[in-house]
Amino acid sequence: MIIYFTGTGNSRFLARKLAAALGDQLVSAPELIKRGERGKFYSEKPWVFVCPTYGWQIPRIFRSFIDDSEFDGAKDAYFVMDCGSGVGDARKGIIELCAAKGFEFKGLAEIKMPENYIAVFSAPDENTAEKLLRIGEKKALKVGEQIRAGETLQEKRPGPLGSFLSGPVNWGFYRFTIGDKKFRVTDKCISCGQCAENCMVNNITMEKGRPVWHGGCIHCMACICRCPAEAIEYGKHSVGLRRYYLD
Ligand SMILES: Cc1cc2nc3c(=O)[nH]c(=O)nc-3n(C[C@H](O)[C@H](O)[C@H](O)COP(=O)(O)O)c2cc1C
Repeated sequence: MIIYFTGTGNSRFLARKLAAALGDQLVSAPELIKRGERGKFYSEKPWVFVCPTYGWQIPRIFRSFIDDSEFDGAKDAYFVMDCGSGVGDARKGIIELCAAKGFEFKGLAEIKMPENYIAVFSAPDENTAEKLLRIGEKKALKVGEQIRAGETLQEKRPGPLGSFLSGPVNWGFYRFTIGDKKFRVTDKCISCGQCAENCMVNNITMEKGRPVWHGGCIHCMACICRCPAEAIEYGKHSVGLRRYYLD
């Protein structure tokens, strides 16, 4: 079973490729999270978890989702993390998670995809994004073959910088960077309510036709990147930046 988490579609894109290659079932964690549900899963095929990298780790919310869900049947667990530049030493936390859940860790694949974090960085232009998608797709298909063969994924081992990024920097990232105080809506807003609809943690409500953020943001970038009127900004940083979203 392929269980994915996504904010702007990259991980879903890869998860779909893997599901097709493995002839396996696809589950959207954000849909369950939005409904306040956890999973009660059964699979005879290996578990494949696909997600973006947030602060050189798997997103905390996805980790909690896995932690709180029940998994029966297969024991083998593969992880696929897509990223803008690297996953640091996300492996360590994943191995701990696997131990807690009784999974046998079968490896972590790192796949570079278009950067979506426009609150802090910027998204690539269309051509670059397209190239990254094609390379990412190829890599996902190769990972699919390895999973089908029951192989353990070969990984490059993280160095001390990886441990630093996934450790203290990740902690500081959640403490100081993730938040919604800088989100604002401009006069371009068409009051469509898509932002509230697309917020998987139900952190946005529409008040007098305008979105209001309530402090529980996970920085998935869905509201700002999927706004059809490009009416959402993050401070001044996002002004003029390309929005990135993959359906
Ligand atoms: C909150 C946040 C944190 C991120 N942190 C990292 C990171 O530590 N390293 C990295 O290479 N990319 C990072 N990225 C980029 C995403 O991991 C990458 O663009 C991913 O493919 C987005 O997946 P999605 O479209 O499924 O949400 C981050 C993106 C967000 C929104």
